[in-house]
Amino acid sequence: MSTDLLGRDYATFPAPEPLKQHGPARVIAMCNQKGGVGKTTSSINIAGALSQYGRRCLIVDFDPQGAATVGLGINANTVENTIYTALFDSRADVHEIVQHTEFENLDVIPANIDLSAAEVQLVTEVGREQVLADVLRPLKAEYDIIIIDCQPSLGLLTVNALTAADGVIIPVAAEFFALRGVALLMQSIEKVQSRINPSLEVYGVLVTMFTKTLHCEEVMQRIYEAFQDKVFHTVISRSIKLPDSTVAAAPITIYSPGHKTSKEYREVARELIANGVVA
Ligand SMILES: Nc1ncnc2c1ncn2[C@@H]1O[C@H](COP(=O)(O)OP(=O)(O)OP(=O)(O)O)[C@@H](O)[C@H]1O
Ligand SMILES: [Mg+2]
Repeated sequence: MSTDLLGRDYATFPAPEPLKQHGPARVIAMCNQKGGVGKTTSSINIAGALSQYGRRCLIVDFDPQGAATVGLGINANTVENTIYTALFDSRADVHEIVQHTEFENLDVIPANIDLSAAEVQLVTEVGREQVLADVLRPLKAEYDIIIIDCQPSLGLLTVNALTAADGVIIPVAAEFFALRGVALLMQSIEKVQSRINPSLEVYGVLVTMFTKTLHCEEVMQRIYEAFQDKVFHTVISRSIKLPDSTVAAAPITIYSPGHKTSKEYREVARELIANGVVA
């Protein structure tokens, strides 16, 4: 047994068993319209940890900034095809758009600035909320988990991510305005649930950038009041090693496996497996 930062006791998450077969993938939208809360960092590092547990992982970079692409060592400006191609070119084979990173079990569908045109272009598409879901469908059999790294907005791209997803992880930074805008995000999730994707779940709220201060502990309590047992037991500490690993273009669990935040991201991966979110 362990006790988390909220004082909740929980059974520690066992090291996962290797998988004997792969797929179909769970699709997770990493979503919060607040910028800089750790969506991309958590996408890369949760996938990094799961890939090291032998889970086949695909990250869909769904942000024109292309941070997840670059953070996995892929040059977003020299790749021929991106998620933008997959969304709008009906002749494109999505399997050919997937890039293998240098890390085992870890692939990415890249994005670059082209994606910034998508929001406007999607408006006139038939079934405009479902375009990403269609793109990902043929890939599900090959992966155990697909993580969509959303951009910081609640526009049509994010609605596409919520429509394509089985569930949402909401990273929340442990700082003063942590919960600002979260009510709006929950409304968007509820609208997608009631109108398009009734089986969409909230897998959990992941507290990031935590430091052991009274302030952060108070923020944690607020987050708990808002989300109760949806808050993951595992909390990600604030550490300069995380931006360092992004610059090094590798998941922290590979770049610096013994670091505290590597242990934390492995713990989140195990929590997801223990909860049945990931096989
Ligand atoms: N736990 C952490 N400790 C310290 N720095 C962090 C941590 N997590 C993320 N960062 C850094 O904070 C910045 C924002 O993180 P990240 O890019 O993951 O957020 P985001 O939610 O994806 O941002 P955006 O909304 O712009 O897409 C990055 O420079 C990242 O390296
Ligand atoms: Mg990001």
